Amino acid sequence: MAVKLRVSGIGKDYLIPVIETVSFGVEAGEFVCLLGPNGCGKTTLLRIIGGIEPATRGAVLLDEQPVVAGDAPSRKVGVVFQEDRLLPWMTLEQNVALVLKPLGLGADARREVARRHLALAGLGGFEHYYPGRVSGGMRQRTAIARALAIEPDVLLMDEPFGALDAQNRRIMQTEVRRIWKETGRTILFVTHSIEEAVAIGTTLVMLSARPSRIRELIRNDGRVARGQLIDDLNTMIMEEVERQQGGAAVTPRAKERE
Ligand SMILES: Nc1ncnc2c1ncn2[C@@H]1O[C@H](COP(=O)(O)OP(=O)(O)OP(=O)(O)O)[C@@H](O)[C@H]1O
Ligand SMILES: [Mg+2]
Repeated sequence: MAVKLRVSGIGKDYLIPVIETVSFGVEAGEFVCLLGPNGCGKTTLLRIIGGIEPATRGAVLLDEQPVVAGDAPSRKVGVVFQEDRLLPWMTLEQNVALVLKPLGLGADARREVARRHLALAGLGGFEHYYPGRVSGGMRQRTAIARALAIEPDVLLMDEPFGALDAQNRRIMQTEVRRIWKETGRTILFVTHSIEEAVAIGTTLVMLSARPSRIRELIRNDGRVARGQLIDDLNTMIMEEVERQQGGAAVTPRAKERE
C-alpha cells in the first residue's frame, strides 16, 4: 500500500531536548495509536505532523510533499484535541459549517456538508442544539464531525476521549472505529490508555522516555493475543515512566502532581 505519511528523523528541542529522533511511515487507511509516558512529546509530535509547529530536525512528508509549519492550514489534515473547542454561541451545525468557510463553499453547501458529517458522527437530529445543551460525548462527536468535514487525508487526534467517563469513552472508541471503517481515513491517535490503543489501533507506536525515540512499533493484527499485548505494553510503559522520572529533567506538569 501507498505510504501516506512519512515521519523522517523528526526531533524537537525546547529548553531541553524533547524528541530525540522519531521515524515511521503510515500507510493510507492505517489507524495508528501513539503511546508513551507523560511529557515524552506525543502532543508535540502530533503538532509537528499537523504543521502547527516546526521541528528542530527531520521532515514530515504527506503524500511525498513536505509539511511546512505555519503554512496556510492544510486542507489535508484534520485535528481533534482533548477539549472540544466548540463555540458555545453557535449550534452544532454552525460550529461544523464554520470550518468550511475558508474552502469557499456557499452557505447551502456548507450546511449540507455539516449535516452530513454530524449524521456520520451519530448526531442526526441534533444539528440545532447548542454545545451547552448536549453531553460531553456529543460535543466530542461534534469535534470529530468538524475535523472530518474538511475531508482530510489524515485525521490527528490528541487524547480526544480523555475528558469522558469510562462508559462514554467505550462508546466513542466503537464509534471512531466505525467512522474510520466508513470513511477509510488515515488516523493518528494519541492516547494514555493501552487498552484503548489495543482495542482500536491497527498499528501501535510506543515512544520512550524523553527525549523520545520509538521504543516499539507493533502491528496489532491479532497475531499476539490482546491480553498478552496489553501486558507487554504495560511493562514497557512502566519502564519508560521510571526512566523518565529517574532523569534530571522534570516537567512542570509532573511537578504539579507531586
Ligand atoms: N511550547 C513549549 N515550550 C517549551 N516547552 C514545551 C512546549 N510544549 C511542550 N513543551 C515541553 O515538551 C515536553 C513534551 O510535551 P508534550 O505536551 O508534547 O508531551 P506529551 O507526551 O503530550 O505529554 P502528556 O502525556 O502529558 O500529554 C514537556 O516537557 C513540555 O513541558
Ligand atoms: Mg499531550
